[in-house]
Amino acid sequence: MATASMGMIGVGTMGSALALNIAEHGHHVALYNLDGATVDALLARAGDLGPRLAKHESVEALVAAMAPPRAIMMMVPAGAPVEATIETLLPLLAPGDTIIDGGNSDFRDTQARTARVEAAGLRYLGIGVSGGEEGARHGPSMMVGGTGAAWAPVAPIFEAIAAKYEGDPCVAHLGPDGAGHFVKTVHNGIEYADMQLIAEVYGLLRDGENRAPADIAPLYHRWNAGALQSYLVEITGHVLDAVDAETGKPVVDVIVDKAGQKGTGRWTVIEAIRMGQSASIIEAAVGARVLSSERATRQVAAPILAEAGGERHGVFDEGDLESALLVSRIMAYAQGFRILLAASEEFGWELDYARIAEIWRAGCIIRSALLDDIAMAFRGDLPNGRLILSDHFAPLLKEHIGALRRVVAQATLMGLPVQALASAV
Ligand code: 6PG
Repeated sequence: MATASMGMIGVGTMGSALALNIAEHGHHVALYNLDGATVDALLARAGDLGPRLAKHESVEALVAAMAPPRAIMMMVPAGAPVEATIETLLPLLAPGDTIIDGGNSDFRDTQARTARVEAAGLRYLGIGVSGGEEGARHGPSMMVGGTGAAWAPVAPIFEAIAAKYEGDPCVAHLGPDGAGHFVKTVHNGIEYADMQLIAEVYGLLRDGENRAPADIAPLYHRWNAGALQSYLVEITGHVLDAVDAETGKPVVDVIVDKAGQKGTGRWTVIEAIRMGQSASIIEAAVGARVLSSERATRQVAAPILAEAGGERHGVFDEGDLESALLVSRIMAYAQGFRILLAASEEFGWELDYARIAEIWRAGCIIRSALLDDIAMAFRGDLPNGRLILSDHFAPLLKEHIGALRRVVAQATLMGLPVQALASAV
């Protein structure tokens, strides 16, 4: 077998999808997973790509099978598993080798790990990978942090496997050490906010107008053909159309209304506040997830606090809802970019905001029509670096803010929760 261009440690959902993507682009990949059966399962479904994938029984065997300089990517859960993998790799690698962390790591951990690994004469990259399993398999958006020397040798592989927006690879070297993971964290903060805003509008139609999910889906399909075009609005339409095969009920009604979180949304809020920035919409989204996770408390509370006032039923203007979603989405992105600006100043990263918007246009979870406008705004003349003051966004906000106010006012009087929409006002 030819020498692998990439080692992959951690071959779970994301690791295996990335390995297949890399193999599809002509590279051999050396694989190791704690549970070897996971690698066997990947090889069993790899088809034509199988000959480019090699299973190894230990990290030592994987390293020994690769020719230096090696590039070894970790796709293991953030935190202790990343730490343990680095500890195992350090004594096995030689100067010129690169360790890559492709998980959702805390950027502060990535900063410390870069310093430690580079002090040992090796190279380190922290890469935020967005797009879930589908993205990883067919083209993710990737945010890279590390030295130019670490990035240059592996850049061609990542550019080949990245999502393409009109031919432009959605991957960029954004800054040193933790810069890539920081940008991915803020991406996720925006993702939390966008999901919450979409869900709140759904809640108004569901609880306020008593409409069935399948009756609400066409609205999201229609919105996805307009200014709100985005992956998240698109899949919301599909999710609301989906029917549970077992019960015949709408899928959203058979899923327990209790959401977890891995931490990136919360980190965005913590870092924003630490730097004196407002992340109010993202904070509202994190808070809403916390409330949703406290299902037992909500069940106890329901009869005690029932009918605490508010007429829960009424009709919302659909044009107002679309405008409200558009304005609040712009504000969520604007908050995200403000946080990036503050971090860039604090850490001296010199982030390229237009480039960040460009690599978010395809592959990642928050990809949307808006991002092309945001990229153009950053490429143009932006008063004080503030997105909402641009020639494009200022008039849009002025045109639609009235709709957002009306929706929030009506929802509040009806006793329906709109914490993220309200924060956007
Ligand atoms: C992505 C996603 C992905 C995942 C996050 C957030 O960009 O592909 O952000 O990384 O959704 O881990 O997970 P939680 O929503 O569970 O915190």
